[in-house]
Amino acid sequence: MFALNLLTLAFAATATVALPAAKRDLAPSCNLLGGGAFDTATNFTLAAWNTTLPNANNTGVPLVLGQAGAISGAEFKVFSTFASFPFNQYPSLSLDKGRLIPHGTDVAPAKAGTVPDGSEPGFIVSNDSDPEQGAQIYCGVADIDPAGHGTGHPFLAVNGDTDSFALCKAGTQNNIVFKPAAGKGYDLSSCYAVKVQIIEEF
Ligand SMILES: *[C@@H]1O[C@H](CO)[C@@H](O)[C@H](O)[C@H]1NC(C)=O
Ligand SMILES: *[C@@H]1O[C@H](CO)[C@@H](O)[C@H](O)[C@H]1NC(C)=O
Ligand SMILES: *[C@@H]1O[C@H](CO)[C@@H](O)[C@H](O)[C@H]1NC(C)=O
Ligand SMILES: *[C@@H]1O[C@H](CO)[C@@H](O)[C@H](O)[C@H]1NC(C)=O
Repeated sequence: MFALNLLTLAFAATATVALPAAKRDLAPSCNLLGGGAFDTATNFTLAAWNTTLPNANNTGVPLVLGQAGAISGAEFKVFSTFASFPFNQYPSLSLDKGRLIPHGTDVAPAKAGTVPDGSEPGFIVSNDSDPEQGAQIYCGVADIDPAGHGTGHPFLAVNGDTDSFALCKAGTQNNIVFKPAAGKGYDLSSCYAVKVQIIEEF
């Protein structure tokens, strides 16, 4: 995280001071997300950081890929709190040019789907899935405020937005939803706003 911040800062400084006209060559999913935006990272996990109540720590609640049903030959996964879905088959994630890719041992590949308003960011898992063909809609946003107002962790954005995630109860699971809406299969009244944080593993 420290290295990432330094790199981002160095890059931002170069871009504004030395090369004012140069455009950073980032995936379109990072458009308008500012100098801290990055479209590629390896080996991280995600955590949900409550934006309304104090958190136990600056990390927030760990997220894992939770089940979300299956069809013949394929399963669906969404982000659930580990507390509500205590299995972790895909213990690390990477971000490749705006594509979010889960990694695990002895598991089928997981390909990210698009995330319409009201839906749960998710993946289709099957032996035919190609994660490199997943929806190119994610971006990381590091905190580059010199005053250091952030949590120390970058936020995840989907569809160019870091500010519209919530945790909502769906059955026994507590799942990440983007722009919660009525009639979508989770309990809307249970939703509360979170930011999704990128926690770098070393
Ligand atoms: C987050 O805040 C909401 C209220 O806004 C609360 O209901 C919920 O329990 C909190 N969750 C955690 C994990 O702190
Ligand atoms: C942060 O607090 C959450 C509970 O809200 C806990 O599940 C998690 O393990 C804690 N993370 C760290 C790094 O202490
Ligand atoms: C993928 O293939 C393996 C080995 O053939 C099989 O055991 C597994 O059930 C398949 N996974 C899915 C999601 O179809
Ligand atoms: C990711 O982090 C884990 C935990 O520290 C480490 O064991 C693993 O080697 C790392 N993987 C990669 C690809 O860097």
